[in-house]
Amino acid sequence: MPLVAQPVDHRAAPDHSGERVPFYRVAMQAMRTKIHRDLPATTLWSYGGSVPGPLFDTRSGQGVLVEWANELPARHFLPIDHSLHGAERDKPEVRAVVHLHGGKTPPEGDGYPEDWYVPGQSRTYYYPNRQEPALLWYHDHAMGINRLNIYAGLLGLYVIRDAVEDELHLPSGKYEIPLVLMDRDLQPDGQMSYPVSPDPERPWVPEAFGDAHLINGKLFPYLDVEARKYRFRILNGANGRFYRLSLSPDLDIHQIGTDQGLLPAPVTMTHVQLAPGERADVVIDFAKLGGKNVLLMSEAFTLMQFRVASTAALEPGILPATLRPVPRIAESQAVMTRRLTLDEQLNMVSESMGMLLNKTPWHMPITEKPKLDSVEIWELVNLTDDVHPIHLHMVRFQILDRRRFDGFEYMTKGDLRFLGPAMAPESNELGWKDTARVNAKTVTRIIVPFVGYPGRYVWHCHILEHEDNEMMRPYEVMHA
Ligand code: C2O
Ligand code: CU
Ligand code: CU
Repeated sequence: MPLVAQPVDHRAAPDHSGERVPFYRVAMQAMRTKIHRDLPATTLWSYGGSVPGPLFDTRSGQGVLVEWANELPARHFLPIDHSLHGAERDKPEVRAVVHLHGGKTPPEGDGYPEDWYVPGQSRTYYYPNRQEPALLWYHDHAMGINRLNIYAGLLGLYVIRDAVEDELHLPSGKYEIPLVLMDRDLQPDGQMSYPVSPDPERPWVPEAFGDAHLINGKLFPYLDVEARKYRFRILNGANGRFYRLSLSPDLDIHQIGTDQGLLPAPVTMTHVQLAPGERADVVIDFAKLGGKNVLLMSEAFTLMQFRVASTAALEPGILPATLRPVPRIAESQAVMTRRLTLDEQLNMVSESMGMLLNKTPWHMPITEKPKLDSVEIWELVNLTDDVHPIHLHMVRFQILDRRRFDGFEYMTKGDLRFLGPAMAPESNELGWKDTARVNAKTVTRIIVPFVGYPGRYVWHCHILEHEDNEMMRPYEVMHA
């Protein structure tokens, strides 16, 4: 179980309210830890001495201050690609900056990729928490090396709660379990390795996978559970792996929430798909499996085991029939529709040279400038053959629909010829999202209220290898 972060002080919020808010200090440090009983200790980089880092347990409307101190070593232990934008040889090797994923954070504290700082420095960010309850997560965002910093272990969870959610009496306390999923490539000596291309000058690879699946930083862990309902708050924190979760023996998974909070009502699933960056809030009832072991699987991989007590539980736990309304935003509210492509550049032998958003590299001038408090539709046209989980900072959005198109016709004539009707989002996607799967040769339409703060943010693919190699763009929320 991740440790819960504890404030070290209370300080004035930087918003002129005069309010004193909890102040936390979290140091990024190298560490060694055993991720499995039978393996030697593994070198990792952590927030606050554990991977995942300490869990922030916060309340909606009550802001917090966090000092993020970079106390990492001067040298990186994973292979930097100096040909990537932002990771050139004249940049310090070790750089870090923290982003709270899913947070409605003022721009100065959002962890803009170029706002990195070096060992010995720190930054204090204010998270106002003026948003609905959800499972957020914090992670590194340093330009050009973000995939390596997160792979090294720089990630953690951040929960926001409120009184409306408390009233639902969902399983809580020891019955509410956070699960951070991520895959790593482990050597027999217990050390992590990160894949490289055959070209030593350009070691970047388009995807990094490993066959060691870490659950809260451990390999093949187990959890003793009572024969009752549990709430699991699951994050796919992997660089590029998509998880498709199920239980063995078969047991329903009642999904109650998405990235940005509760669904209108539970959705019963046998499999839950999670792209990198996505979260699922689920309830699982072990009542019928007293005395048995239940495996959490992803396709053929075993992730972890639940050992269900053979005695009856004192309380069964509650799964409410309705949760929290999520009013659908009418398309007529949108003041503008942007068509934005997801592109892959191939070299002459069809190897990936990297991806782009709207055929525009990072350093080009900002093209997306929504007005504060306006609603826009973004049509994400995926011209590639891969699924890309697209994430926007600061805002939450709803998925309108997905529609397949003829990729060849688009490439040759530039027309979007659809191959069928628009498909509604899946029933477990009918909540507020901040990361959405954009399938291959498909237009995914999202509707986004740009509510929050004016300023410069980013949007990007959450496959971290793509993000680090130009599949990220700035956007700017303009004063209305
Ligand atoms: Cu998980 Cu740019 O964020
Ligand atoms: Cu984010
Ligand atoms: Cu991608």
